[in-house]
Amino acid sequence: MYSEKVMDHFQNPRNVGEIENASGVGTVGNAKCGDIMRIFLDIDEDGIIRDVKFKTFGCGAAVATSSMATELVKGKSIQEALQVTNKAVMEALDGLPPVKVHCSLLAEEAIHAALWDYAEKNGITIEGLEKPKSDISEHEEKIEY
Ligand code: FES
Repeated sequence: MYSEKVMDHFQNPRNVGEIENASGVGTVGNAKCGDIMRIFLDIDEDGIIRDVKFKTFGCGAAVATSSMATELVKGKSIQEALQVTNKAVMEALDGLPPVKVHCSLLAEEAIHAALWDYAEKNGITIEGLEKPKSDISEHEEKIEY
């Protein structure tokens, strides 16, 4: 049911933890399943994501997609990180079962929330970034299968 990559990232998740004094922190939840995701970003003065960590109280698919998402945004610019959609994460994991697609939204939204926090702290606007929702189940209809 799950690809080898999903199982690998679930059993050996990358970048688990917290960053002290992070440049941006984003927390999102899905009220339907009750799962919660928090992402910490360390962004340098050139706008490059130097480090990223995540913590989750979530299902296996949420763990695997967050692990892959952190790998995909590490070392990237803010604009590049915005391109890391849940679809891109799922492709990198060789897919997810349809009932688990919503789990991949947690990581995307948590990254957006952390970038929003970073922008607010620094008084800047990030082009293309919309104010994140704290409950992602409100916009699950945007999920692309
Ligand atoms: Fe809630 Fe997977 S079931 S994130």
